[in-house]
Order: sequence, then C-alpha cells, then structure tokens
Amino acid sequence: MEKLTGLKKVKTAVFISGTGSNLKNLIKFSKIKKSPISIDLIISSVNKAKGLKYAHQFSIKNKIFNFQNIKIAEKNILTLVKKEKIKFICLAGFMRVLSKNFIKEFNGKIVNIHPSLLPKYKGLNTHKRVIKNKDKFSGCTVHYVTTKLDSGKIIMQKRIKVTTTDNLTSLTKKILAQEHKLYPAAILKIFN
Ligand code: GRF
Repeated sequence: MEKLTGLKKVKTAVFISGTGSNLKNLIKFSKIKKSPISIDLIISSVNKAKGLKYAHQFSIKNKIFNFQNIKIAEKNILTLVKKEKIKFICLAGFMRVLSKNFIKEFNGKIVNIHPSLLPKYKGLNTHKRVIKNKDKFSGCTVHYVTTKLDSGKIIMQKRIKVTTTDNLTSLTKKILAQEHKLYPAAILKIFN
C-alpha cells in the first residue's frame, strides 16, 4: 500500500452484513487525527443489518445491495465505489464472497478481519470449532483479501488464551474486544 502523503485521508468503504461493531469502531478510529483513512461509504449485503444504524448516526453515505444476483450487485457496487472515489475497502462482518473480478479491480486494497488465528479455521463458526477442539489459544486476524477465502497475506494477528470455562458467548465477546483493537492497528501498519 502506498504511503500517505500530505494530510488527505484515504477514502474508504466498509462492507458489512450484520451487527457492525467493527464498523462503529472503525468510524471512531477514522475520526482521530492519526487515522490514515476516512470512511465515506458503507455497503451492506443485508437490508436490515443492525450496523446500518451507524451509517445514519454518523451521516455516512450507505447503500444496500441485494446479492441474489452477485454479478449485478458487484457491477453496481463497483460503479458506486468508483463514483465515490473509494481507494480502500474494509470488510467487517461481510458475509458474502467477492468474485475474482471484483477483487482484481481492487487488487491489494481490500482487507478483512477474521475471528480466528488464520490459517486455522477459515470460513464460518470459528469459535464453535475452537471450543470443540479444546484449543488453548484463539484470536483474530486482519488480512488482505484475495480470490481464495480467508487466505490472503496476514497483516496483523492477536492471540488470546481460551480458558476451560470459555463458552461461545464469552469467547465471542473476548475476541470481538481484541478485533476492535486489531483492525485500527492493522490499518495504521498498512499506511505508515
Ligand atoms: C466479527 O467477529 C468479524 O471478525 C467477523 O464477523 C464478526 C462481525 O462482527 N468477520 P461485527 O458485525 O463487526 O460486530
């Protein structure tokens, strides 16, 4: 990623599908002086995504896309993203797999946060699998998005201890708290 020059922040879009706690956290981060990004667009694949409330709360342009037809959805997203001069994309709980074509258009400029210590536990239900396997550690990872699911170059990772008393709720909560620290840290690392 090119280094930041001058005071202009990099125009960024966040893609969500759900609660949006990472989105909220990234918006707050984007407003501090040292943040290299500004969040100018929020895209949701779910029309009732809870996270959309943050778009309204912080008056950020947002749009919902129906992924029933992925080709049309991506074509329309690309048009919008280009119109808004977006240069960086953060996936944050975005539950759709982007096509090779879309990723190519934004080569090296899409990042994702995943709630496991990649390459372990790609895909869904990470915490469930960690508990089932009685793993002693888990964590979260920020990585570049490539055409292979959850397999792009790792930017930063945070490891946490899983205790014998941890359950799905406690582990989700513990890891989400770490995600909120890791995502901004990874973005600072990318641009600085
Ligand atoms: C997070 O655990 C993230 O790592 C995963 O989906 C969850 C989204 O949470 N990809 P939120 O919508 O940001 O609260």
